[in-house]
Amino acid sequence: MPSVRITELSVHGFRNLQGVRLAADARANVLLGSNGQGKTSALEAIDYAASLRSFRGATRAQLVGHEADGAQVLLRVEGAAFSHEYRVKLTRTTREILLDGKRPERAVEYFGGASCVVFQPGDLELVQGAPELRRRLLDRILVRVVDGYGEALKSYAKALRARNMLLRERHPDLRAVQAFDLPLARYGSAVVRARESVVGDLVRAAQSALEEITQTRDVISVAYRARAPGDAVAYAAMLAAGVQGDLMRRTTQQGPHADDLSLSWSGRPARVVASQGQTRAFALALRLAELHVVEARSGSTPALLLDDVSSELDRTRIERLFSLVGRLGAQVWVTTTDPAIADLLPGARRFEVRDGRVSLTAPSAG
Ligand SMILES: Nc1ncnc2c1ncn2[C@@H]1O[C@H](COP(=O)(O)OP(=O)(O)OP(=O)(O)O)[C@@H](O)[C@H]1O
Ligand SMILES: [Mg+2]
Repeated sequence: MPSVRITELSVHGFRNLQGVRLAADARANVLLGSNGQGKTSALEAIDYAASLRSFRGATRAQLVGHEADGAQVLLRVEGAAFSHEYRVKLTRTTREILLDGKRPERAVEYFGGASCVVFQPGDLELVQGAPELRRRLLDRILVRVVDGYGEALKSYAKALRARNMLLRERHPDLRAVQAFDLPLARYGSAVVRARESVVGDLVRAAQSALEEITQTRDVISVAYRARAPGDAVAYAAMLAAGVQGDLMRRTTQQGPHADDLSLSWSGRPARVVASQGQTRAFALALRLAELHVVEARSGSTPALLLDDVSSELDRTRIERLFSLVGRLGAQVWVTTTDPAIADLLPGARRFEVRDGRVSLTAPSAG
């Protein structure tokens, strides 16, 4: 299967990164450096250029370097038969995206090509944290594999905001509130259908990734309980039936904005029973499942960005992870403070990250 290969990365004014320009290895790249030098920021810049979201949940103003007027990230991505340049320019308040120097006409055109999967310390929250993080996992997958999903999600959010604003008025106008039922039903049901279509594959892939990483037969499950029907007519009827409750609570209660994935470990809620190590393994399994689903549906293997794996996984699990990645053929980017981790990826191109600058440290053995 063809895979996403980031061959060139330039970053200016993003977090503490300055004047970064590097030519990447097609298979494996390691960013080595002490704490606070810019390793996570480099992965964040890559994923930001690909997904237009910060995996640390940062706003544009937080991403632009304290001393910079704006930030710019450029990725060159090469496949078997193409080469594309993704460029994103940020100021504290604006964002401009360019695909091969032109504004992309449709979002899927942009998101389709440079897809990345990130595993980072904050991913423990996928298992333990708020539902929003699990919805974001689904959404990250779906914007890349379902045509029109990103647009449906945006239109849904817009209609929801407007309806909720009306519900919060002192004397809500029922007719005005219900004028939003049609768009909510249309876009909301499309979001639900897309989410339902992907969960089965996601849980199967997560289970097999977990077995591979832990070499145990612990059973995990991921269930999607949609809060609204995937049929637009039934959806509209649900909104009509619930409008009195919405008026009382001053908000739209049902819909994909309130969805959650329920995760269980050996039949019990994972948040409650999984140990630290099991929680980490579950989170990693979900990320590898994201990679698998995007690969299966888009026909190309995303690049895998692993932030600070040695703080998350023991050496044996890291070795299994690297060998799995090798078999998948995914390009991998690893950050670490520990050169011994880099040694587990023979042939990887090594870069040193120091004070916001990135330099090649040793020629690739490959
Ligand atoms: N907008 C910003 N402008 C300038 N510097 C920033 C900005 N945001 C964060 N920083 C700083 O950038 C530096 C690099 O942060 P980063 O998280 O990339 O470090 P790291 O190399 O991953 O460190 P660790 O090994 O501790 O995870 C930190 O000193 C951080 O305080
Ligand atoms: Mg870091």
